[in-house]
This record gives sequence, C-alpha cells and structure tokens, in this order.
Amino acid sequence: MALVGRKLLAKETAWKAVFFMAATRNPDEIFYRGADSFFNAHADIGLTFDDVTLATLYSDILPSQTQLDSRLTEALHLNIPVVSADMDTVTESRLAIAMALNGGLGLIHYNMPEKDQLWHVSRVKYHVQGLIQDPIKVSPDQSIGDVLQLIEEKNFGFSTFPVVDESDRLVGLLSGHVVKPRYASKKVSEALTPRNQVRTLSRKELGKDPIAVADKFFTEHVGIHKLLVVDDEDRLHGLITMSDVEKITQERKAQFKPARDSQFRLICGAAVSATRNAFGELDRERILNHVGALIERGVDVVAVSTAHGHSKGVGDTVKVLRDAFPKLPIIAGNVTSATGVEYLADCGANIIKIGQGPGSICTTRIVAGVGIPQMTALYVCSKAAEKKKVSILADGGITKSGDIVKALTMAQGVICGGMFAGCTEAPGEVVEIGGKPYKQYRGMGSLSAMNAGSAARYGHDKKDTTRKVAAEGVEALKEACGPVDRVLASLIGGIQSGMGYLGAENLNQLREKARYIRVSPAGQREASPHDVVELKTRN
Ligand code: XMP
Repeated sequence: MALVGRKLLAKETAWKAVFFMAATRNPDEIFYRGADSFFNAHADIGLTFDDVTLATLYSDILPSQTQLDSRLTEALHLNIPVVSADMDTVTESRLAIAMALNGGLGLIHYNMPEKDQLWHVSRVKYHVQGLIQDPIKVSPDQSIGDVLQLIEEKNFGFSTFPVVDESDRLVGLLSGHVVKPRYASKKVSEALTPRNQVRTLSRKELGKDPIAVADKFFTEHVGIHKLLVVDDEDRLHGLITMSDVEKITQERKAQFKPARDSQFRLICGAAVSATRNAFGELDRERILNHVGALIERGVDVVAVSTAHGHSKGVGDTVKVLRDAFPKLPIIAGNVTSATGVEYLADCGANIIKIGQGPGSICTTRIVAGVGIPQMTALYVCSKAAEKKKVSILADGGITKSGDIVKALTMAQGVICGGMFAGCTEAPGEVVEIGGKPYKQYRGMGSLSAMNAGSAARYGHDKKDTTRKVAAEGVEALKEACGPVDRVLASLIGGIQSGMGYLGAENLNQLREKARYIRVSPAGQREASPHDVVELKTRN
C-alpha cells in the first residue's frame, strides 16, 4: 500500500514538474521548434512545403540587405541559390545564360545528341566575356566567300575577324563592312585593314582589371568596337568587344551579380546519363569521353541525373567520374534517404539532389507508390549531408517563393522546372489556347521524353520494345510567363522577404534560425487569399 502511495506521489510530482516547466518556459519554444525537435516530433508523417510554416523572429535586417549567395562546392559558387532543371522543356543555352546572368545556374539537359549538348555549353561559356581567349580568326589566303560560308555554317552573329598568319601573328583586321557577297571572290589579304592601322593592346597592358582598361580604351578610341590583345611577339592573345564591356560594367552595379567562373565566363552545368552499352554494362568509355568533352568546353559541374540515385548504376557512374576528374564538381541524385545521401557522397558526389515524386509533372508516387514529401525528405537528407560535408539541392515541387524559403532552411539551393518552363528563354514555341499563351512542359519520365532519350534516367532502355514501360511523368502546358529575369526577380524578392522576417542576413543564418510549426488544413486555406474576389494574382 505504501509502495502504491509513493508511486502515485512520484507521478503527481512529475506532472507538476511538466506543468511548471510549461508555465515558466517561453511558449515560443514549445510551439515553434527548431528543425531537430520539430521533425523528430513528426517522425511518423511525411510533410511537404504547405504542411509547415516558419515562425517569425526579431529582425534588424531589411529584405534588401539580405545576401543570397551559396557555395555548393569549393569551386562552385552561386550568387542566388536557384538552379534550373535539366529537362528538355526547361534548360538549354538560352535559359542557362539567363540563369547565370541572374546569379544562378542552368543544367543543360541530355535529351539531345552529345554534340548538341556540347554546343549549348559552349554558347553559355562564350556568352559575354571580358576577354575572348580564342577568338575566331581567318587567314590572309582565304577568300571573302570562304568567310561568308563560315559565318553561315557556324551561325555566327558577327562578321569582323582578326586576320593571322600561320604562326598566329596578327596581319590585320577583316572588318564586317567588307564581308559582303559582292566581294566574295576577293582574298582576305586584299580587303583587310593592315596591321599598322589596327589598334591593339598588349597582354601586359591589360593589368588586373582588363574590363576597366578596355572600357577606357573604347572611350579614347572613337568608333573602335573590338580591341585585339597581342603578346610580346605580336601573336593574337584575345579579343574584347565593346558591347561585352558595357554589359559587364552594368552588371557590376547589380545587387545579384552574374555567376561566373575564374575566367569571368558564365557558369554552366550539364546533365549526363548513366549510359549502358549493348551488354547492359555501364559504358565507361562513352561517359568519360562525353564528360571530358564537356570539361573541354568549360562546363562547371555535371549532374548524374536519374530518378533513383541510390542505385549501383548511378554510384558507379559517379565513381568513374570522380576517379577520372578529381576536381570536377559532381551533382548526383535523386534520393530521399540519409543512406542515399551517404552512398552518393561516398561515391564522390559533392552535391546531392533531393526529391522523388514532388515535381509538378511527376507521377512517380502514383505509378510506383514511392517517394517522400519534400520537407521531411530534406530534413532527413540534410542530416546525412551535414555529416558527409556535401551540399543538397531541393529538387521539385516548388510553386512559390515561400516554398523556396522553407527549402533553404535545410538545403543549399533549389532546382525548379515548372517555375521556368513558361519563360521566354525555355525551349519550345508559345501556343495559344483560348486566347492565352502557353508553352509545353513535360516530365522527363513522360513517354514522349523517354522516346526522345531520357529513358535511362528512369532505368529503362528506349530501344526495348519488348516490355511495357510505365511513364512516370505527364506532358503538360505552362502559361507563358515572360523572361526569366522577371520570374527570378519575384522569387528573389520573396526569398529576401522571408529572410527579413526571420532576421537572417544570409543563408547560413536562415538555416540556423528557422523554427517550424505544422499547419492545419484550415491554416492552409487561411494562408492563401480568401473571402475576396481576386482581381490580380501576379505582380
Ligand atoms: P517542378 O515541380 O519544378 O519539378 O516542375 C521539376 C523536377 O521534377 C523531376 N522530374 C520528374 N519526376 N517524373 C518524375 O517523377 C518525371 O517525368 C519527371 N521529370 C522531371 C526532376 O527532378 C525535376 O528537376
């Protein structure tokens, strides 16, 4: 009896202690929890963006003061943490250029012949350059007709060329004014402006800030739009154009600078597939040749993109690439488990894509019954990423800037497909339906995309017609939404606003400070405009 009495007393004391703690603790700590406490308390449920909201915190930071730069690897640095998806209705060179100019990164998709992908990467890398190190040159013996043919074949948007001899010494400049069909039979040597009339700078004169030097040069030399740079032996070393200098000078004033490599070229990523040979084995040689050629073009990161990254094929591909190219930043995925992150990190990946089935065009969860809601997946994977010292990218399911803010509380960046598919720079034509403009957007696991080449991403062989292949994506339309600049401006504004509410000056602080609470269905309804007749839904 005495024992029962003692037990009851102990229980009562314990309850009193709980109530006392609850009464004395700051209620914020009980209701709004840090990531570990919050996600562990919800370990029995998969949560996604709309299931949670972030609590505000004291702030002395204005949204405009927040910094959005994100270091994905030692060598890969973004000025905004946004990446465009490697999908054939999203990222080719035009969109990748726009992404990098805004400080982000585009991943060129691989649903095209390898040589075309190389061409797209080159276009990004050579888009705006301070110094074009290997300018297109012509020789004095060529005819103007040859030069015209070269312009047509290569689709060049310019017609002025430096003229060099066999040892690359500058002979003169072939001006666009004379590259005309009427002069087709004339030799370049007859039409060029001779060397002694061509103004040049030596490599040494460029100093530490070639753009400032070139800017001054163009101001001082009225009418000259191309500056040739030579070495001590008068060999052509590079070319700087006035329009590039003007763009770069303007960019230097923007808050979010373009994402550039160490040679001041825009950064660019490319997706590669875990290609198999006719015997079903990993085609190491082909993968290595492909990536070797991408590196030659200046690619900054490759993405081994598949639906199931925690698999032998993906792991082996990453290992092959890591062995051959020890310094190359490698993105791999997709996974949604801590073990998956650790596996890919151990194979040599630096950045892991997180997301299985959250995408706006994905049907993986319906077709295969697998996948994890994105916020839970991000939390679980972020723990392993922290341990392995790799970055993670939240891939898919992002429909608004608030989702990005939530994703960035755990990831170093986000990948968006649907947000950019309606942009002017995305591949494909605008179609008008019912008076409204749309662009095509399809899952890489849709039947049409797999037939066009992406079957390997979903573990299928496009030539295999003997078995039924279940599509894991749909073909859809997105409302045309204008240039990427505009879409990114509103996304960035939203991210900065979220950071301002949390008093986070940069993304590290956002990750440290974030506190979460679950949202009820009524809370979700409350979060969107309600009880009004909406007149305008966008900026
Ligand atoms: P959002 O939501 O931005 O998602 O449109 C883009 C991401 O979705 C993935 N993706 C697919 N997932 N079936 C899938 O299950 C598909 O057909 C498919 N296509 C793309 C991919 O990770 C992309 O970045």
